[in-house]
Amino acid sequence: MSTAPFSDPAAVASYTQDTPAKVPGLADLHRMTTVLLGERAESTAHILVVGAGGGLELQAMAEARPGWRFTGVDPSPAMLDIARRTTAAHAARIALLEGTVDDAPAGPFGGATCLLVLHFLDRGERLRSLREIRRRLTPGAALVTAHHTAPDGEAERWLTRSAAFARRVGTDPSRDAASAKAMAERLPLLSPAEEEALLREAGFCAPALFYAAFSFRGWVAYAG
Ligand SMILES: C[S@@+](CC[C@H](N)C(=O)[O-])C[C@H]1O[C@@H](n2cnc3c(N)ncnc32)[C@H](O)[C@@H]1O
Repeated sequence: MSTAPFSDPAAVASYTQDTPAKVPGLADLHRMTTVLLGERAESTAHILVVGAGGGLELQAMAEARPGWRFTGVDPSPAMLDIARRTTAAHAARIALLEGTVDDAPAGPFGGATCLLVLHFLDRGERLRSLREIRRRLTPGAALVTAHHTAPDGEAERWLTRSAAFARRVGTDPSRDAASAKAMAERLPLLSPAEEEALLREAGFCAPALFYAAFSFRGWVAYAG
């Protein structure tokens, strides 16, 4: 799956305005993520943020937990530039690195996030990335993931609802259905059961669903 759109500065310029309008409850997803990480992370923890482009989750967590510091990795320089601007007020506690989890330091980290990223990666690359995240976590530390899924194998129905939500004004069912079809063809989506199996295969324990919003699902799981 190509993530080329994220490398085009013009295409990502409005990311921080557009994304909260497209992902139901995004601000609360960030608040829940902070709570879930905080159950296992110390007040001075170092948190790994995989796919940190845009900086929205970094900004939310840095504001809510003044003692945490962060390393964010993202392969897109354009998205990292936006993250740098979004998180400028907390720059002293945030290191931003160009690359994937493979380029992140060894840690150990007291928690990790991977938000709105894994739906771009095919199963093999997801498994590899999840294993690399797990290797960098303190045993028992939490990982929070959230992204598009294919609930009960009904990807298009739920993606159509997500497209309708993102539209905000008016209705256009045929355009929403077409955009859902394109996404279903483009994104290597997994069912919720496959998602949980993959987390376990990567060495995480007790994956628990905590967020469900049309085609989006979020899990917390713990480094084994
Ligand atoms: C939809 S954005 C999500 C950004 C941010 N996590 C958020 O929730 O707003 C997807 C991001 O994943 C990044 N990305 C793509 N492939 C990646 C990979 N293999 N590892 C880490 N990040 C990746 C893209 O560059 C892009 O910045």
